Amino acid sequence: MTNHLAAIIRSDGIILGESLASQHAIHEEFGGVVPGLAKTAHEENIDKVIQSALQNANMSIEDVDAIGVTVGPGLEICLRVGCYKGRELAMKYDKPFVGVHHLEAHILMARLPPEKHDESITKQLTGDGIQSSYRAMEFPFLALLVSGGHCQILKCLGIGKYTIVGGTLDDSLGEAFDKTARLLGLPVGGGGGPAIEALAKDGDPKSVTLPIPMQQRKDCDFSYAGLKTSVRLAAERICAERGVERPDELPHQDKANIAASFQHIAFRHVEIRLGRAMELVQREDGIRTLAVVGGVAANKELRRRLNALCSDRDTPWEMSVPPPRLCTDQGAMSAWAAVERLMVGSSDSAEDQEVFARYPFSVSYIDGS
Ligand code: KG4
Ligand code: ZN
Repeated sequence: MTNHLAAIIRSDGIILGESLASQHAIHEEFGGVVPGLAKTAHEENIDKVIQSALQNANMSIEDVDAIGVTVGPGLEICLRVGCYKGRELAMKYDKPFVGVHHLEAHILMARLPPEKHDESITKQLTGDGIQSSYRAMEFPFLALLVSGGHCQILKCLGIGKYTIVGGTLDDSLGEAFDKTARLLGLPVGGGGGPAIEALAKDGDPKSVTLPIPMQQRKDCDFSYAGLKTSVRLAAERICAERGVERPDELPHQDKANIAASFQHIAFRHVEIRLGRAMELVQREDGIRTLAVVGGVAANKELRRRLNALCSDRDTPWEMSVPPPRLCTDQGAMSAWAAVERLMVGSSDSAEDQEVFARYPFSVSYIDGS
């Protein structure tokens, strides 16, 4: 969430223009996110990013119908830069305003209509004229949200209506990928996930024995801190065998085996916890659709395995997962969340909007309106 992102989206889900200014280069130099630097870069880039998204859409700010901006959870000083800009534009140009919940935005991407869908079933008459109401998936559904900051299973009942079925006790799945990537000395610029996924293709997922987390706890929660330690210990053992000092000095094949084994067990843990949650909500609520969202949902192996988890059941489930580039953070997700909120008549006051470092669903706009 340290990039600057903006997008213009139409209410039928067509992305008209996008823009991104990456801060990877700045942070790479300092080995992590430096909040002070992130804020300065945000302030310098925000106008440019908005302008370039508008330019790509061939529009001016007067042409847009509403403004949405992420207000939490995240790094407050960065969120504030975007939030103040969104508020300023909404007030200056008299546009409806939506303060977007970042996790809701990830979830709602699973409802974004696919690029090519049958237009004839997508239109409905509303007070404001013809609007598209087609969605890739309807409520209620179960969502697996796996990103850098979060690792949750949620029952999604409607816009603004979410209940947590399971969450992580320590690290998120994305964090586990990032830490493993760092251990192996892989590039972590855009998050370590893509580097681990690529390396794992060359490895044998059964070659390094790692324990599946929380085998004794029969609930839907996650834990990745123990797996991280197991991976480190296994890597150190292999280092000793090879006579090298550090895991990043290991030969390619060893690193690939570690990456593949880590990924296999990390996803096995997901399958077990998610499988249990699916049984629960199917029994209690009759839900049989799954959304897989957040940065880690871009992982092809995870997509393949969860697809199998859905189709191999006695009563098969439907699964919706955004295209990989729409799983990781981008501007379209905040714009789309704003469309979804506005279409159910929900918006916020641009004058009063605050930002939130922590923003549990239970205290967000969801409860208040
Ligand atoms: O949703 P996101 O872009 O940002 C947050 O809201 O946190 O998720 C970023 C996380 C990072 O931890 C990154 O390593 C992980 O998603 N990620 C992946 C892949 N692409 C991104 N993890 C595994 N495989 C991938 N292909
Ligand atoms: Zn995110």
